[in-house]
Amino acid sequence: MAVLVTGGNAGIGYFVAEQLAEQGVEVVLGSRDAGKAEVALKVLRERVPEARVRHVPLDLASLEQIKEVDAGPLEAVVLNAGVYLQQAERRETPAGHEMAFGVNHLGHFALVAALWPQLRPDARIVNTGSFAAKSAKLDFADLQTRQNYTPKLAYERSKLAQTLFALELDRRLKAAGSDRLSVVAHPGGALDSLTPDRPPLHVRKAKDRLGLSRIILQGKDGGARTAVRAAVGPDVHSGQIWGPRVFGLRGRPRPEPVRAPYADVEAAQQLWAASVELTGVEPLVS
Ligand SMILES: NC(=O)c1ccc[n+]([C@@H]2O[C@H](COP(=O)([O-])OP(=O)(O)OC[C@H]3O[C@@H](n4cnc5c(N)ncnc54)[C@H](OP(=O)(O)O)[C@@H]3O)[C@@H](O)[C@H]2O)c1
Repeated sequence: MAVLVTGGNAGIGYFVAEQLAEQGVEVVLGSRDAGKAEVALKVLRERVPEARVRHVPLDLASLEQIKEVDAGPLEAVVLNAGVYLQQAERRETPAGHEMAFGVNHLGHFALVAALWPQLRPDARIVNTGSFAAKSAKLDFADLQTRQNYTPKLAYERSKLAQTLFALELDRRLKAAGSDRLSVVAHPGGALDSLTPDRPPLHVRKAKDRLGLSRIILQGKDGGARTAVRAAVGPDVHSGQIWGPRVFGLRGRPRPEPVRAPYADVEAAQQLWAASVELTGVEPLVS
């Protein structure tokens, strides 16, 4: 049994994989770039010589490739990969979906559908939220952010969508009497500049080593801890949101209250229906 970590080749996803491997968990890195995945595998095996770790090709922008993913059997999947575009122009996936919504939410929605037969009966599905989603609102007349597009708006909506998806999945699992768990983990504020070196995967620049941000934020190793806890911790329940203890930005993981906008059941149901329509697939909760 293994845990699949999407975007496990870099950033928080790499540290989720490393920390799981340290606990003796078999890890599968989902990565769209075989070269980057090879580097991550090498670094991870150097850090954790006894690690059981492998790679599966996974481009979350490609609904066609997602259908073919064979990673199982799985005890958990950490839906960590994410894009936050820096350039001002709006971009789309090959299926014509706005890139952040398409990769972060729709790609993971389709992945869960594809993995459904590969997940253990008590498997955990861990979506990745963000403090940035707290002030977001979905626009069901413009889910793909064609109007007033900014990378920030699209990203915040995509992270809210991931959180609503996770909580709706939880309700459906419970209604079906399933033993599977759907959980949200968010990393707080996790900066490369506060992240320990893992050469050649990640090396801090000299100028990065200073800064007051270390007081309120953390490194990507710290940000990984909530997802690791959600994926394999003993005290995790379906429907929870896990975040860092100190102002939701840094520190040890703890469950957070599920408040607006996450508690909007109607929006979550509407989003589920729209996601089925846009991807053509559905996690078959029964
Ligand atoms: N860092 C923070 O402070 C923070 C705060 C809140 C939430 N988050 C969330 O935490 C997660 C990880 O963030 P991070 O800071 O570690 O980001 P990161 O360093 O930019 O890493 C993002 C990962 O996602 C992968 N990815 C991007 N597009 C993909 C695609 N189409 N298919 C497959 N993989 C793809 C990247 O792969 P490539 O290497 O191939 O690009 C990379 O492995 C994201 O979901 C992010 O939204 C982060």
